[in-house]
Amino acid sequence: MKGNIISRLRKRQILREISCETDLSPRKFIMPIFVKEAGGIERSRWTGMDRIPMDKIVSYLSPLVDSGVRSFLLFGVPQNKDPQGSSAYAKEGPVQNAVRAIKESFQSVAVFTDVCLCQYTDHGHCGIFELQSINLKKTLENLSKIAVSHAEAGADVVSPSAMADGQVCSIRQALDESGFEDVAIMSYSAKYASSLYCPFREVASSAPSFGDRSSYQIDFRNRREAIAEVLADVEEGADIVMVKPAITNLDVISALRRRLLCPMAAYQVSGECAMVKLYSECMGLPELSVEMEMIYSISRAGAGIIITYYAPQAISHLKGELA
Ligand code: PBG
Ligand code: ZN
Repeated sequence: MKGNIISRLRKRQILREISCETDLSPRKFIMPIFVKEAGGIERSRWTGMDRIPMDKIVSYLSPLVDSGVRSFLLFGVPQNKDPQGSSAYAKEGPVQNAVRAIKESFQSVAVFTDVCLCQYTDHGHCGIFELQSINLKKTLENLSKIAVSHAEAGADVVSPSAMADGQVCSIRQALDESGFEDVAIMSYSAKYASSLYCPFREVASSAPSFGDRSSYQIDFRNRREAIAEVLADVEEGADIVMVKPAITNLDVISALRRRLLCPMAAYQVSGECAMVKLYSECMGLPELSVEMEMIYSISRAGAGIIITYYAPQAISHLKGELA
């Protein structure tokens, strides 16, 4: 054996390129978007987390679509909240209006919608609370109504994130009964209870007003439990499954890739992106140099689809590499 046999291919850029093991395609990214009812665009201090009023959604997305972003995941930031989160299925809600506008303006775009209650309930939990605990039946009913209202607006994929048992099954059934057999489901199957959601909760104003989400989200000490959640969702009819946060759960992603036949997404959540930003600033590095390392590791672990607030920058970077 000659000493440096492995590093020989590292010595020139073109040889590094031809021998690199992971290729990322610009088509594999989903960009989260926060839609509110009215007012002006509110710029966030975090990259990619602005709040956009529904009547400006098309002009906001237009340059992103031009630069190659093709999939968006919409979150609503409503004005009105109540105990049941009923504004979530309002026909004229921010998500419903934004979906219609986007589908009308951009033929090449796929619209994913987040299906949950936490931005819409006055207590900020993902389900309907009664006597201090979640009423599963009512929660599932409302989640199904939300999914159908998104489908009616033209969503391509609905994405339940409430971690309510049976949510995929009941949404699938509701969609089919309403004639939306072609609307797919991307389930937030393995969603951990995490401190990394804080910037999101700030932007979406969805922080729980009491307690936390550990009674329905997964304990971060557990891996097998996450795998069981994902397999259950596949059984229930999920078309795409998702793991989040991404970077803290690469072992879960990798274990799942070996078991699953369906596409798998990983969500690089708000706190992960915030860490990228603050670390880069602190060290005087371009955000993207840190971000690409994160994204490639997520891809290497086995996630085919990556949801990230850095989607536009990552896509531009990848297109530049191809040029
Ligand atoms: C809530 C929801 C959360 C995220 C997506 N959907 C946060 C939570 O559970 O409080 C987090 C996304 C992010 O942090 O970027 N259903
Ligand atoms: Zn929620």
